[in-house]
Amino acid sequence: MAYKAAVFDAYGTLYDTQSVAAITEETYPGYGDIVTQIWRLKQLEYSWLRTLMDRYEDFSVVTRDSLIYTLNLLGLKHDDAAFARIMDKYVHLDLYPDAKDTLGRMKGIKLAILSNGSSGMLNDLVRNTGLDKILDATISIDSQRAFKPHPRAYTLIEAKLGVKPSDVLFVSSNPFDVSGAKSFGLNVAWIERVTPQAMAAEFKDSRLIQPVSMFKAIRMQMDQLGFAPDHRIASLSDLPKLIGA
Ligand code: LAC
Repeated sequence: MAYKAAVFDAYGTLYDTQSVAAITEETYPGYGDIVTQIWRLKQLEYSWLRTLMDRYEDFSVVTRDSLIYTLNLLGLKHDDAAFARIMDKYVHLDLYPDAKDTLGRMKGIKLAILSNGSSGMLNDLVRNTGLDKILDATISIDSQRAFKPHPRAYTLIEAKLGVKPSDVLFVSSNPFDVSGAKSFGLNVAWIERVTPQAMAAEFKDSRLIQPVSMFKAIRMQMDQLGFAPDHRIASLSDLPKLIGA
């Protein structure tokens, strides 16, 4: 199958959302992991709840509100400067180490991001990390006022790139996004960063379970929604071979 475009999820797929942990730990010593995990869990949950409630607010609002929720819940005080410093990491997230090299090797097809991020957040993030020079398009779901996995979000790929869903390889590490993209009719590669075997080993001794293990269990294992990915890969660097580049 010769794909005409590869479209990537941003947060968790090209960009490591766990890379906020350094700044959350520096700001709240001893709380870095729990802040990081509850924040990301709630951020996604709020995106889905707002879509279901038909009360769309963009991802910067959802990201801010979920951080406020997390700090309040843990009884952590925040001044405006500390809050702004943590939020700022969202436009300077670390790329996965193989992201740039992989994109650089995927020649001959269109490359784009389709993300729940707001246009402002995504444009800053992509520019700050140099991906603006590699990608053909950075697409925010903003204009649809519905977050992935709502089908309306995925219609933007054809609308913006002019490539039919059957000619697109959609790449995500987020199982909810894999299910949504597959249900919509895209070809999907899932980056399985944590295997069930690794998970089982991690949960063997329940006294050692860290907040990040819960995140991996809840948000990094394939969901039972009836939409399996077409391809399972271990990392971004498996993609050039998959598309025959
Ligand atoms: C994204 C988040 C949801 O769309 O992973 O980039």
